This record gives sequence, C-alpha cells and structure tokens, in this order.
Amino acid sequence: MSAKKSSRTKTPRKASPRTSLVPTGARGVADGEFERAGNAADFIFSQTSLRPRIALVLGSGLGAFADGFAGTTKIPYAKIPHFPQSTAIGHAGKLVIGKVGAIPVAGMQGRVHLYEGYSAKVVAFPIRVFARMGVKALILTNAAGGIKREFSQGRLVVISDHINLQGVNPLTGPNDERFGLRFHDMTAAYDKRFREMTVDEANRLGLGMYEGVYAALLGPSYETPAEIRYLRAIGADLVGMSTVPEVIAARHSGIRVLGISCVTNAAAGILDQPLNHLEVLETAERVKGQFIGLLKAVIPRIAEAVA
Ligand code: HPA
Repeated sequence: MSAKKSSRTKTPRKASPRTSLVPTGARGVADGEFERAGNAADFIFSQTSLRPRIALVLGSGLGAFADGFAGTTKIPYAKIPHFPQSTAIGHAGKLVIGKVGAIPVAGMQGRVHLYEGYSAKVVAFPIRVFARMGVKALILTNAAGGIKREFSQGRLVVISDHINLQGVNPLTGPNDERFGLRFHDMTAAYDKRFREMTVDEANRLGLGMYEGVYAALLGPSYETPAEIRYLRAIGADLVGMSTVPEVIAARHSGIRVLGISCVTNAAAGILDQPLNHLEVLETAERVKGQFIGLLKAVIPRIAEAVA
C-alpha cells in the first residue's frame, strides 16, 4: 500500500464544532430535510428553465387550472426525489411548471393529506422544496365545509386565519435554522395584502367574496353535527382536512401565503342531509371556472408584490 493511500485511510478527523451552524434537536444536528428538499429542487430545475416565484397547491377538482398553463413541464410526483405520492381521488399527483400570462408558476395538481397516513413533515415536504426553489408566494386552495351560514355551497372564501385541530405540526423535532426560526410567528399567517388583492379582484369579477377562519381536522371522516357546533363556538367559519401543515411550513421559511377555500358543502348537521365526497367533487367541478378566473386575476398582482 502506498504511503499516499495509507494516509487517506487514516481514521477521519473529528468534525470541527464550527463546521455547521445548524442547531440540533438535542444538540444541533439537522435531520437531512434541507438537503432532501434541495435534491428535489435541483431535480425540478433540471427539467425546466423556468424559475417560478409563485407556487400553487391545487386541491380537489382544481388541478385542471395547471393544464391551462403555457409551455408546461409536467413532472409526476413519483419522479421527484423524496416527494410524497397523492392517493386521494381528484388529486392527479403532478407538478406542473409553466406560465400564467408572462408569469412563471409551479402548480401542484393535488396534495397529500394527514388522513392518507402521512406525517405532517411529509405533507409539508413539497413546501420545503418550494422554499429551496426560491418561491416567495404560495397560493393554497382547498375544498371545505361551510360552517358560517352565509357560506353556502359553491362559495369561494379567502382564508383569513386558521385553527389547527390536527394535533400535529410539521415543525416538531429538530429545527433547521436554514429553513427558519425554532419559534416562528403565525400572527399574519395569511398575507393581508394578498387577501385584499383577492377580495378586490373577486369584486371586479362580480364573484362576491367572503373571508373566514379555517379549522383543520385530521379526517378522513367528516365531522359530527356536535363537532360543527363546537367549531362554530370557537370561531371557525370553514372546516377541512388540509392546508394548515403547508401554511405552517411556508411561514417558517418566510413564504407569503394566500389561502382560498371552495365551500363544497354545508358542514355536517347544518342541512338535514348526510355528506358525501361525490358532492364535494361535483361542487368543486361546478365552480372551477370561477375559481380559475379568480386565480388568473390574482396571480399578476401577487407576482408584482413579490417581484
Ligand atoms: N369537512 C371536512 N372537510 C371537508 C368538508 C367538510 O365538510 N368538505 C370538504 N372538505
């Protein structure tokens, strides 16, 4: 064995305590999520020359919006390193990069949910990838049950705030400060300017927009009427099974958030009829045109705000 080689096979030097500035759960070791999200972002960038600053998560029935982007690159989630697979009906499972007018955007056709058995960290992983891609604004859409009486079937509602009743948070465990602070602010989780712009554009389009507080539950069962009475009493206007882990992860990295719900049904017990997923999908399909019109109007304004 040459002297050179043997010098290389010596026991490795101990890492200097100054090699990482990333604090650990217990002692400062990151868990690799930053690197995994970086790998996914690199892969996405290897597939397209676009560098979107706006990303969208298109919930139940809304995925079609991304089919209308110009000059698209469509990447199945299965091809993106570490990306979770969507198993929910109405969620195509593709990331579509393209343009809305002149604005580059990344649209997720479907998301993963906690009720599919994924952890909150996995549910929020795509948002980590967006953070690594340099995304500055995130538009989250979802289907929700209407708790507030004015929120009738088919209404679009801008989310003003949320109540996390999912019992989990994607940020538990070691904090990687390259993403954000250990304890980050959620006072203005839903960007005030984005909300104003959306209400503005909805009015211009004659849509009549409301704002409301979204309560996130684990699902997959719909709520009981007693649970809906409880949610109303604590200040919730809408109820759903998604969005909140993504908002938490986005705000952790300073990404500005717009959330819009489509009220696909009156929440349990409000009408004297059972809930079913078909009704949710049918309503989402019925208001898809309005929803897409609103997104098209809002995206240029958001692009200006994050330029
Ligand atoms: N409850 C929870 N999630 C939902 C509902 C609902 O009534 N409608 C659409 N998603």
